[in-house]
Amino acid sequence: MAIVAVVGLQWGDEGKGKIIDLLTPQVELVIRCQGGANAGHTVVVGEERYVFHQIPSGILHAHTRCILGAGTVIDPEALVEEIAQLQARGVPLHERLFISPKAHLSLPYHRLLDQGREAWRGEQRIGTTGRGIGPTYADKATRCGLRVHHLLHPEQFRTAVTPVLAEKNFLLEHFFHLPPVDLEALCRAYAAYGETLRPFVRDTDSLVRDALQRGAHVLLEGAQGTLLDLDHGTYPYVTSSNTCASGLCSGAGIAPTRLTHVLGVLKAYTTRVGMGPFPTELHDATGALLRERGQEYGATTGRSRRCGWFDAVSVRYSVWHNGVTSLALTKLDVLDPLPRVALCTAYRYKGTLLRELPGDTAVLAKVEPVYEELPGWQHSTRGLTDYTAFPAAAQRYIERIAELVECDIAIVSTGDSRTETVVRRPLF
Ligand code: IMP
Repeated sequence: MAIVAVVGLQWGDEGKGKIIDLLTPQVELVIRCQGGANAGHTVVVGEERYVFHQIPSGILHAHTRCILGAGTVIDPEALVEEIAQLQARGVPLHERLFISPKAHLSLPYHRLLDQGREAWRGEQRIGTTGRGIGPTYADKATRCGLRVHHLLHPEQFRTAVTPVLAEKNFLLEHFFHLPPVDLEALCRAYAAYGETLRPFVRDTDSLVRDALQRGAHVLLEGAQGTLLDLDHGTYPYVTSSNTCASGLCSGAGIAPTRLTHVLGVLKAYTTRVGMGPFPTELHDATGALLRERGQEYGATTGRSRRCGWFDAVSVRYSVWHNGVTSLALTKLDVLDPLPRVALCTAYRYKGTLLRELPGDTAVLAKVEPVYEELPGWQHSTRGLTDYTAFPAAAQRYIERIAELVECDIAIVSTGDSRTETVVRRPLF
């Protein structure tokens, strides 16, 4: 039995969707553990491109069952649409997609509050996806959230939402000057979503326990990345869930002692969407080249991503925090045309050299990256499936990353599709 957590080691968008899809044929269950409709996981199969926001990226493999765990936040309106779109493309979901009754609901007032708060923050905004993620997790923590089980019982939904909505509407109207949410319309619409989602809601704890007792292989699908972790990321420019392996265990309801492997996914350079410090960000032609060649535009919001050199300081930090046992490196081919490539090995702050990621975000915002330059390979690595076929300079770049972040690279992804992959050491 292998229970593998797949985590992002940067600011999200590392290519986890493809890696999950690649590993799925070998597992029985894929579990989304945290986050919600803020995620955008892209999977390419032949000519077909799928973008998953809430549904786990393993769903395209017919024999695999997929779970939305208790730690996720479900946007019923968006999920109903995602389900309909997948079904229209011929992907069967019945008895394959299961939603934990314990997952919290992202409701329209969460989205409005998220957007209202961002506008009110102005220059100090987080740059959220506007999907209501922060307000949903805040309600969960203050114990006024609604959960999936409420959705199945319209009277319970109404009883729970009525006092909450009174408070939210007061804030919306009198603080954010936004229109209030109508209670009757909300109850009506969400009763209908509840009916559509009812067949998918299941005691997912039992499904997971049965699978583990049978010795099945399981994947825990992380969303976002370690540097966006609520506790260990670049707070406050983070998401509102724990994106680390420990957060995945908690969100899936699987004890940390059962994890057998943590696969860290990292891109051969760095990107970030939204605001917050980004020491290796490039504002020049190389940054633009990374954006264009890497198609660095948000899968959820369409925003263009900020791009920069690989930052070994922050990735080493992520490797440590997740207990990563091996790495999957993605998008190396984006660097193919560059005559020289750079890796950030330390930061300089007020004349001192920092080898660790500072916990104070204001310090991180002021550090200067210290780079090690390596020769580029100026040769296409796209689609390679054999490690020995990589140009020597590309191999040197890969090995240097492994050395700097202190972890083995088991998988190198050389393109969007499943076949464009080098597996140096199989996981299962
Ligand atoms: P939120 O999760 O919508 O609250 O956004 C908080 C921060 O996390 C913002 O900087 C977002 O751009 C970022 N973020 C959230 N989800 C993703 C993702 O799937 N990929 C990359 N960044 C994300």
